[in-house]
Amino acid sequence: NWTMKNFIDTEITRIRTLVGPTAEVIGAVSGGVDSTVGAKLMKEAIGDRFHAIFVDNGLMRKNEAVTVKKTLDDGLGINLTVVDAADEFLSKLKGITDPEKKRKIIGNTFIHVFERVGAEIKPKDGSEIEYLLQGTLYPDVIESISFKGPSQTIKTHHNVGGLLEDMKLKLIEPLRELFKDEVRNLGKILGIPDELVWRHPFPGPGIGIRVLGEVTPAQVKIAREADYIFIEEIRAHGLYNNISQAFAALLPVKSVGVVGDQRTYEQVIALRAIETTDFMTADWYVFEAAFLKKVSSRIVNEVDGVARVTYDITSKPPATVEWE
Ligand code: XMP
Repeated sequence: NWTMKNFIDTEITRIRTLVGPTAEVIGAVSGGVDSTVGAKLMKEAIGDRFHAIFVDNGLMRKNEAVTVKKTLDDGLGINLTVVDAADEFLSKLKGITDPEKKRKIIGNTFIHVFERVGAEIKPKDGSEIEYLLQGTLYPDVIESISFKGPSQTIKTHHNVGGLLEDMKLKLIEPLRELFKDEVRNLGKILGIPDELVWRHPFPGPGIGIRVLGEVTPAQVKIAREADYIFIEEIRAHGLYNNISQAFAALLPVKSVGVVGDQRTYEQVIALRAIETTDFMTADWYVFEAAFLKKVSSRIVNEVDGVARVTYDITSKPPATVEWE
């Protein structure tokens, strides 16, 4: 840990020198560990001259915006702006079913909203925002240099590269030499709550790629409620930290069910839980039958619009982690 403390001191000094005594910095936060650690480091270095922006795209997990506000603003004292842009994202996604198109729309809308909100943040002394924080880790650096393969071409992982050119911002990447476990360690030392430090990764396009087919507010709600129950049970059974990533996907397929003496005809939830070290390959997680039974019955009983629950028993490869 002393080396990490050393790293923090060195990095804070480096940031202060780079930014100087007056310039201001903005950065997007997602509620994940990387962006939170980056934001907290900026806060330690330059205080309120760092402005964090959280764009609620309407595709986040349940209660996400409230949780992010509580943790970053109230808890860590980070200067935070929360933007509710759900309508904007969802209206752009109307009628779109192709996964790659969804990713592009969500990525572009994010950049658009972030730039608009960023431009509204005016430093007190009338100066302009000069820097953009990015939570780039070492593996991302490697990937962008040497990796023209799978993750680029199979799925376009959304990034904020376009932001730089449009806003003419200079880049700060305090985590660019660190691996994920080092970022977690850093987070702990910076006082970031354990729950956030050990959070499963969540894709930028969020529930947008977990509702298969067209993404509508009603579909997002079903996927979100089912996901919430699944994760809640995973936590309650003490399994969260054994699993690398878990979520519910909504399949737009109607299936017949029976509730009481009523025939129902509703959609299908697919649960996915994986174990992996690098997300390039992954095994599906082996739950006990009783656990799956409980989750399944809760989802069908508590979430309107679901007639059937399935568990995904496909490894990566050949399947990817996400369904889209
Ligand atoms: P796949 O589905 O490619 O997922 O096996 C591997 C990891 O990447 C995440 N993922 C994404 N993350 N934008 C992101 O920020 C994306 O478009 C995206 N697609 C997949 C996925 O959640 C998993 O952790």
